[in-house]
Amino acid sequence: MAGESAGAGPGSPPPGGTDGNVPLLDVRGVTLQYKTKDHLVTATYRVDFQVLRSDRFVVLGPSGCGKSTLLKAVGGYMTPVEGEMRLKGERIGRPGPDRMMVFQEFDQLLPWKTVAQNVAFALTSSGKLSSREATEKALHYIAKVNLTAFANSYPHTLSGGMKQRVAIARGMAMEPDILLMDEPFAALDALTRRKMQEELLQLWDDTRFTVLFVTHSIPEAILVGSRILLLTPHPGQVKAEIDSVPRGQANAQQRAELEAYIHQTLFADEKATAEPTHA
Ligand SMILES: Nc1ncnc2c1ncn2[C@@H]1O[C@H](COP(=O)(O)OP(=O)(O)OP(=O)(O)O)[C@@H](O)[C@H]1O
Ligand SMILES: [Mg+2]
Repeated sequence: MAGESAGAGPGSPPPGGTDGNVPLLDVRGVTLQYKTKDHLVTATYRVDFQVLRSDRFVVLGPSGCGKSTLLKAVGGYMTPVEGEMRLKGERIGRPGPDRMMVFQEFDQLLPWKTVAQNVAFALTSSGKLSSREATEKALHYIAKVNLTAFANSYPHTLSGGMKQRVAIARGMAMEPDILLMDEPFAALDALTRRKMQEELLQLWDDTRFTVLFVTHSIPEAILVGSRILLLTPHPGQVKAEIDSVPRGQANAQQRAELEAYIHQTLFADEKATAEPTHA
């Protein structure tokens, strides 16, 4: 399947990493575990992948395969027991403003702050911007997600989709090296979800940000992603890494073929073990 070359458009950043051949995010042999009082849970096992600048990199896999865990580790909230993760060549050791996270939940905003204050808050607390500069930047990104009219509204007056737009604006306003999105549209109704996927792609056309996007929806992965990493069920291991169908050129049949291919790749083992019982 021919891949879409990220950054191929006019005026876009050069393809590839930040520094010659160094990937923006380099994940090598990463095993992640949870140690509870009674159990040791291996969430991912020796996972490898590389994200280049301007990639829309999707991690796709069934529930419980370790997608959120991987994202948490990239965010710096968990340390691998094996392998390593590097951002621009630097080992990831702790959370930082170079990796902003957008979650699935609608309650990730501060309820006592307006939309503009929510977006500006992270900017002022990093200490780099004055409150006026932070508000200006916040309003710029609020406009990008089409919420200018709601800049002074409080989160409880917004729909789920609007709250997710605020969370995206907040993440983008920090201008991180990579935006980490954990099923950001999963709790939305189907129509809003589709609209948000399109809006995210328009935003990408506009700014060419790098995004690491987690989903368990195959159609969403194909639509949103330029590259797709397929993980096996628990513990998550890399099954394959594929290019999505090129945006704009993909027809329904191409999408359906890729969807069937991914489905078959993800669930081939399940079928193989299930078949004898039906024989
Ligand atoms: N805090 C935790 N303590 C112990 N085990 C955990 C913890 N969080 C996740 N796990 C386990 O790690 C594994 C991977 O979980 P994770 O949440 O990363 O999966 P996921 O792919 O994001 O699933 P979903 O699609 O349902 O969100 C699961 O077996 C889960 O039970
Ligand atoms: Mg998850």
